[in-house]
Amino acid sequence: MNNMGAGIAITGCGSAAPEAVLTNDHLAQMVATSDEWINTRTGMSNRHIASATESLSQLSAVAAQNAIAMAGITATDIDLIILATSTPDDLFGSACKIQGLIGATNAVAFDLGAACSGFIFALITASGFIRAGVYKNVLIIGADILSRWVDWSDRSSCVLFGDGAGAMVCQGTSQDDRLLSFGMYSNGSQNDSLNLNYYSQSKPLVENITAQYGSYKPITMNGKEVYRFAVAKVPEAISKAMFQANLTADDIDWLLLHQANQRIMDAVAKRLKIPTEKILSNIAEYGNTSAASIPLALDAAVRDGRVQPGHTIAASGFGAGLTWGAAIFKWG
Ligand code: UT7
Repeated sequence: MNNMGAGIAITGCGSAAPEAVLTNDHLAQMVATSDEWINTRTGMSNRHIASATESLSQLSAVAAQNAIAMAGITATDIDLIILATSTPDDLFGSACKIQGLIGATNAVAFDLGAACSGFIFALITASGFIRAGVYKNVLIIGADILSRWVDWSDRSSCVLFGDGAGAMVCQGTSQDDRLLSFGMYSNGSQNDSLNLNYYSQSKPLVENITAQYGSYKPITMNGKEVYRFAVAKVPEAISKAMFQANLTADDIDWLLLHQANQRIMDAVAKRLKIPTEKILSNIAEYGNTSAASIPLALDAAVRDGRVQPGHTIAASGFGAGLTWGAAIFKWG
């Protein structure tokens, strides 16, 4: 596939979420919390929880098929699939499983791990392949099932997370490049603010050699640290991206942030002097779905007509790593 010198058009999106809905009142039956506390501190009311018969690959495949249909192409047109996730069905990766499920037989597929920044990092990675002329049609997916890794006895984190999947089709175009600017950042010195660590026990194999045999343990988080980091770094990343694209706050039609906390989204909008009405938020219904949160929120807004072709969207993801990134693009 040669597509040298191409710009990027973002032509389709899709999403999927598990059926079961866990409400704030349900959580109040499990830990010492209340609907009032969760709502005022986070803006969340519900989150969707994957059942034993739902998988990350399956939710992603539905989101992907919806995005491909909206783009007006077929699965066999896809050259590359990037799955941003921290919770694959298989530690070897789930992108290939999704490739098989949707019949994208001409695509190479791989997983990308950057926690809640994963979808923005996947978009930027896709843009590199498209601009270099390597691939023309790229499917990016953000999906997570954090409910399988939450400490359901820790009220400070279990109320936040839900499950879902979202997808986007990016295509090479000889017309205007719709990805106007981007930035990606990491700060490993704050790595211990948000973790899903591996814990092991020694398993002696032969004399003097032991394997460390174990599994991943539930999420640990310093909520205040992550909050402070997000309200400082996200506005900075978006401001830099706006400067690179020669845009001001008035040029932004929609602010599309990782859905971690409504208060974080409001604080970021305020710092950027972007009216809060321009925030695309679905946090009340889905909570924090990690890599899925940005495409889930975008898909709803495209399908209900808020986001129109040509609208300028300032998007930003942030989370474990710590990682954060911003991308400004035009829809359609
Ligand atoms: O994808 C990125 C992932 N993570 C994030 O983005 C998290 C960012 N951080 C946050 O969103 C907020 O820090 C939280 C929502 C996690 C917490 O809100 P906060 O306003 O920072 O609360 P806090 O941690 O300062 O806790 C205030 C009080 C504490 O009680 P004391 O010490 O004042 O008696 C907590 O123990 O609220 C208590 N608390 C709760 N009370 C009822 C913590 N969680 C709960 C809860 N229900 N679920």
